[in-house]
Amino acid sequence: MTPPRTTDFASYIHEPDNRDLDHIPGDYGLPVIGHTLRLINDPFIWAQEQHQKYGFLSKISSIGSRAVLAVGPDLSQQIFTDKGDDFSSQMGYRLRVARFFPGSLIMEDFERHLHQRKILQTAFKPKALKHYTNEVNHIYDRALQEWDADAGKTIPFFIYIKELLLEVAAEIFIGETKRGDRVQQLNQAFMDCSNGTVHVFPLNIPGSALNKGLKGRAFLEQFLGELVPKKRTGDSLDMFSHFCREKDEDGNFFTDVEIVNQMMFLLFAAHDTTTAAITHTIYYLAKNPEAKEKLYQECKALGKDYLAFEDLSSLPYMQQVFNEVQRLRPSAPMLPRRTVREVEMAGHKVPAHTLIFLVPRFTHHMEEYWTEPSKFDPDRFSPERAEHKQHPFLFHPFGGGNHKCIGMHFAQMEYKCFLHKFILKYDFKAQHKKEPKMLTVPIPKPADSMPIQLIKR
Ligand code: HEM
Repeated sequence: MTPPRTTDFASYIHEPDNRDLDHIPGDYGLPVIGHTLRLINDPFIWAQEQHQKYGFLSKISSIGSRAVLAVGPDLSQQIFTDKGDDFSSQMGYRLRVARFFPGSLIMEDFERHLHQRKILQTAFKPKALKHYTNEVNHIYDRALQEWDADAGKTIPFFIYIKELLLEVAAEIFIGETKRGDRVQQLNQAFMDCSNGTVHVFPLNIPGSALNKGLKGRAFLEQFLGELVPKKRTGDSLDMFSHFCREKDEDGNFFTDVEIVNQMMFLLFAAHDTTTAAITHTIYYLAKNPEAKEKLYQECKALGKDYLAFEDLSSLPYMQQVFNEVQRLRPSAPMLPRRTVREVEMAGHKVPAHTLIFLVPRFTHHMEEYWTEPSKFDPDRFSPERAEHKQHPFLFHPFGGGNHKCIGMHFAQMEYKCFLHKFILKYDFKAQHKKEPKMLTVPIPKPADSMPIQLIKR
């Protein structure tokens, strides 16, 4: 195995992106905007067309950047496992993330990344997760009691769940338990910041998404920064407090700036992804009443009002539903990297400093592996069928390798506790006027915010 070669290539972060991709199959799309519109419209369809024309690796371009698109499980494996420290996450994400979350986990590479990740890991250990599980259940209880007022009515589910998960973020991540103006301001700043990162046009002018995002970021930075001293000396069990108290092997705390940056990215990485996962689940269950009934019966058979940490692995069908929704509509639709040095990929020499994009949904739909790939069929993940086990990187909604989602277990806990409580309390029916367009940008969701009729059981 190639030993890590981080330090001798540390200069890669100062190099401009490589634009010389003429020897790689593909095209650069339209003048100036390249493939941007197709990419925004539906990265999956676009990736399928690219693959059909050019194979697993093809050159592409989008507003000012040239890159390669890498699809299929073999390239995912090569990039995620990254045996030779060939792929930089920092340089892949820098265009969107650097301005908002410098120094965050996804903006670190190799040894420094591992070091930071080790410190953050404490907030995700079973003991911490157990505590979050209890807290999350209280928040859901409170919220669903309020939702009772809407029983019988049609609600925009996406908006409801987005707001509810913001409450979870404020309480569990930051420890802000009192609702009111302060939390409202925090949530607004967070949403502006989050929308800012997915701006399509990089214009920092008053009123633009980027401009609002940067203002939101400044607010969050101050808000969180002011809390650090209190959290360091306190004994709260929210995630932020964990980071504030955690020390490295030399006994040093994270610096205030490091904590705030890590925390802001964590909020961002957690929120839209989980919101999308739950919204898409409601969409598919509403369309598939048999699956909805099967899930309801499984939750009922467990005989609990709420899921304790120990129960999280006791709902195998719910796990299959989660997996199937992530297969069909991965919450993280495109993942970027940049090569640190020249790398051989799918038989082509990809030069150093080349941007790469992965589209997990392409791999999640390959007909060579999946039976009727566009069909919602949770049983494909059953132990008997286990279609996902044909290749170690055929199904990777949480990524893989060193940057694999650190919040994977938290996300599934948040998802399962909600779905369990929700489905035991309510039946629901989709109320779309017509089949909605499924958006990927700015975040994956049905375009009509998923109207459902809430029916109390
Ligand atoms: C369904 C929900 C979620 C999905 C599908 C998801 C997906 C992902 C993916 C694909 C990556 C890898 C990105 C890459 O390699 O480029 C990732 C990284 C990450 N996720 Fe998640 N995520 C989810 C929820 C969460 C939650 C709840 C948290 C925090 C509590 C979180 C925190 C992070 C962080 C910090 C990273 C960066 C890890 C690193 O660079 O080492 N995510 N996530």
